[in-house]
Amino acid sequence: MIDDLPAGFGARRLDEEDHLPVLAVLDSWWGGLKGPAGAKERALLLPRLYFQHFTSTSFVVERDNGEMAAFLIGFLSQTEPEAAYVHFVGVDPALHGRGIGRALYRAFFALVREHGRRHVSCITSPQNSASQAFHTRLGFTTSAVKPGYDGPGLDRVVFGIDLGAGARNSGA
Ligand SMILES: CC(C)(COP(=O)(O)OP(=O)(O)OC[C@H]1O[C@@H](n2cnc3c(N)ncnc32)[C@H](O)[C@@H]1OP(=O)(O)O)[C@@H](O)C(=O)NCCC(=O)NCCS
Repeated sequence: MIDDLPAGFGARRLDEEDHLPVLAVLDSWWGGLKGPAGAKERALLLPRLYFQHFTSTSFVVERDNGEMAAFLIGFLSQTEPEAAYVHFVGVDPALHGRGIGRALYRAFFALVREHGRRHVSCITSPQNSASQAFHTRLGFTTSAVKPGYDGPGLDRVVFGIDLGAGARNSGA
C-alpha cells in the first residue's frame, strides 16, 4: 500500500478501531503544543466520524509488531471536484526524519490523483513550525497567518499544492 516506508514498517487503511489509539497519542506526538487548550483543540478535531466515513482515503503506518507509528487522515472534497484535503497527520516523535511523513503524503497524492484530484490543501497552527517546515519541503505553498481562520482565537496557516504543476511540486 505504501512501498517506500523504512524496513520494519507497513501500512493499511485507517479503521474505526483506530479512533481511541489515535486520540491516545495526540498529546505526546504533538509535544504538548499550546498546552491544555491545544490538547483539547486537537482531540475535538478528531471525532469518531473520521474513523467511520473517511477511512478509504486515510492511512495508518505500523511497526511489524502492530504498534502504531504514524497516521494520515485525508479526504476528497465533496464540493470541489479537483480538490482533496489532509485533515491530520502525525508521526511518532521517535521516528521523525525517516521519511515516514513524506511517504504518507506520497501515498495520499497517488490516491487522490487516481480520483482526478490535483489540488491538496491543509492547515496548521502558527505555532507549529515543524509542520510549516515539513509542508514547505514537500512543495506546499504557505499562507501568511490568517487570524480567526477556524473561529475566534483559532488562527491558522494554510498550505496548498497543485499536483498538476510538475514532479518538483508533487512531494515525491
Ligand atoms: C510534521 C511531521 C508529520 C513530519 O514527519 P516526518 O516523518 O518527521 O517527516 P519526513 O521525515 O518525511 O520529512 C520530510 C521532509 O521534511 C523535512 N522536515 C520534517 N520535519 C522537519 C522539521 N521539524 N524541521 C525542518 N524540516 C523538517 C525533512 O527534513 C524532510 O526533508 P528532506 O526529505 O528534504 O530531507 C512530524 O514532525 C509530526 O508528526 N509532527 C507532530 C504532528 C504535527 O505537527 N503534524 C502536522 C500538523 S497537523
